[in-house]
Amino acid sequence: MNLKKHNHLAHDEKHVKRISMSLPPKLLLEFDKAMKKAGFSDRSKAIQTAIHSFIDEYDWKAGDNKTGAGTITMLYDNHTYDQDSTHTQHDYTDIISAATHVHLDHNNCLETIMVKGKIKRIKELAKNISENRGIKSLKVYFVTTV
Ligand code: NI
Repeated sequence: MNLKKHNHLAHDEKHVKRISMSLPPKLLLEFDKAMKKAGFSDRSKAIQTAIHSFIDEYDWKAGDNKTGAGTITMLYDNHTYDQDSTHTQHDYTDIISAATHVHLDHNNCLETIMVKGKIKRIKELAKNISENRGIKSLKVYFVTTV
């Protein structure tokens, strides 16, 4: 059992570093507008969220050996879906934490698989599933656990 301490976002003064940054005024104006629309009142918090998204995106593209967590969400036609794909999931128990299946209507199923582990392995699973002919749509949401 891994009892490593959870790495929650630190708000303590001793756990944050102050930085100053230069931005073109128009960009800052647009950022402030966007963060208000998104419901942020604290600019530091909004920038922190933006930085996380930046890291998540970069790691997903280039950091195959890094680890993180996320979801694979897929919509499929249960009449054409090759059930071997369900067996595929059995080969990835090292990264699959949970799966939820919803029968949307007579034809469509929505399934979300929660994963954690190496990016390379998550990509492999997503690729394997997407090759199933019943899949109509597949999306991966990934977060780096910093
Ligand atoms: Ni179903």
